[in-house]
Amino acid sequence: MRYRVTLIEGDGIGPEVTAATCRILAAAGAPIDWEPAPAGGLAMEQYGVPMPDVTLQSIRRNRLGLKGPLMTPKGGGFRSANVALRQELDLYVGLRPVRALPNVPGAWPGLDLVLFRENTEDLYAGIEHEVTPGTVVSIKTSTRAAGERIASWAYEYMRYRGRRRIHCCHKAAVNPLADGAFLTAFREVGAAYPFIEQLDLGVDSLSLMLPLDPSKFDVLLLQNLYGDILSDLCAGLAGGLGVVPGANIGSRAAVFEAVHGTAPDIAGQGKANPLALLLSANMLLEHVGEWKIATRIERAVWRVLADGDHLTGDLGGTAGTEEFTTAVIDALGESS
Ligand code: NAI
Repeated sequence: MRYRVTLIEGDGIGPEVTAATCRILAAAGAPIDWEPAPAGGLAMEQYGVPMPDVTLQSIRRNRLGLKGPLMTPKGGGFRSANVALRQELDLYVGLRPVRALPNVPGAWPGLDLVLFRENTEDLYAGIEHEVTPGTVVSIKTSTRAAGERIASWAYEYMRYRGRRRIHCCHKAAVNPLADGAFLTAFREVGAAYPFIEQLDLGVDSLSLMLPLDPSKFDVLLLQNLYGDILSDLCAGLAGGLGVVPGANIGSRAAVFEAVHGTAPDIAGQGKANPLALLLSANMLLEHVGEWKIATRIERAVWRVLADGDHLTGDLGGTAGTEEFTTAVIDALGESS
């Protein structure tokens, strides 16, 4: 079986890290045919919007996408391309695994967390208005249905992956209706998973406890805004955004992406680290069940990182994108 995957190169370092990732996947024998599609700066030039219909249609058709970072156009009232993608394709699961990788400075030893973020509701509904001069209202949406579907996804993921402890993190004491509905959905859906330890915690307590000792946590489930903030905090525990993969998954499509930005300061210089996008592509391979190839790539990456001879500048090394990519491809041979 081969998979057609929409490929959004993205802006800045995007073309460099996507090219490196595609090279490694091809060398590992991943059965993927790429279908390039524009977004970000390129789409602004061609279509006048950062996330054009032609790209959304491509993902709808293929049901799978790999996305490099996109610059957010300043001014002009454009919806962020990333937010548009999640909303238009109803990619309600924000999935971010964070792990300590070898030789990544600042990573918590042994870190191994998975964060689930509800991607479609909350303050991101964009419902905001001025009631009287000087007073604005921003509406936080929270439906029972959205809470249930993300909770179901998280529990099923845990069942499949053998993870056994989940914390639903909220502020139900302050927002008993909005956060309370999310918490109730978490508990009710959880009744079907008695073998999973189910806990809940204030998001403020979580923010204190995580940096003190992340080993206390296994899987985290949060609403959109808390998930947005805490997922970056978790990335910090893994050594930064440059080493963390991510996915946005819905019932009909899934888009895998590096969570770092376009790194304009190093774009076009051959210095970018493709690791985050490569690990995101590996999540795509796991998502479609290509476990053998994904494991082979993962082993090769760990070997290169552990050896430490071909680390990119952001990890304290001197290698460029090309050298790191070639090292991973060479290591593939050793890990088969
Ligand atoms: P950034 O992540 O692009 O850069 C922050 C720092 O990390 C820079 O020093 C950069 O050189 C470094 N860095 C990031 N990725 C790297 C990689 N793969 N290899 C080596 N070094 C790396 O964040 P910044 O500067 O805040 O944002 C730049 C642009 O990216 C903005 O237009 C922003 O809107 C966009 N952005 C897009 C995202 C996405 O599409 N998912 C996420 C975050 C920002």
